[in-house]
Amino acid sequence: MSETLPAGARFAVLASGSGSNLQALLDAYPENVAVVGGDRAGAFAFRRAKKAGVPVVHLDPGDYRTREDFDREFAGRIAAYDVSLVVGAGYMRILSPVFLARFPAVLNVHPSLLPAFRGLDAPGQALRAGVEQTGVSVHFMVEEVDAGPVVAQEAVPVLPGDTRETLLERMHPVEHRLLVGAVRDHFQGKSGF
Ligand code: GRF
Repeated sequence: MSETLPAGARFAVLASGSGSNLQALLDAYPENVAVVGGDRAGAFAFRRAKKAGVPVVHLDPGDYRTREDFDREFAGRIAAYDVSLVVGAGYMRILSPVFLARFPAVLNVHPSLLPAFRGLDAPGQALRAGVEQTGVSVHFMVEEVDAGPVVAQEAVPVLPGDTRETLLERMHPVEHRLLVGAVRDHFQGKSGF
């Protein structure tokens, strides 16, 4: 179901994979997703954007000598869509300070209860650690990876026999709900950034 954000609220979504978080944002805010950016031309997230009529910005990291060169061009292409917020929704590259400096705020969804299990494959880390619960965090991105202020968190149980897939399946609805809520809170001035 779609919700309403303040008039003129425009944000970008960055995705590298399936884009189920992107889809939740497109469903909730069809008028406000100004552009979808990513590094993988074949990402299903791009098909979701095109189906929703949202412009896509794809840059190939292989075309750039350094991360900063890529992020400078990427930030410029995204900024051209006049967005005041960028949302990382399964974007699998680290955003350098060059990118972060271009926007007032960058949110990200991470599949763990930060600061636990930062970095890649957080669900796999939780399974290997044998914890009985993990969770989802939405946080603002800062230079240090997965370390910015957390704006929303919710625990998700790890059940006996869970695989990465079954755990992620249980986490995704929580991710979608927390991310949609965090974007709304941000545009309503409740997030402090
Ligand atoms: C999600 O688990 C998210 O927490 C993580 O990457 C995954 C993206 O999933 N950052 P999707 O592409 O949104 O379905």
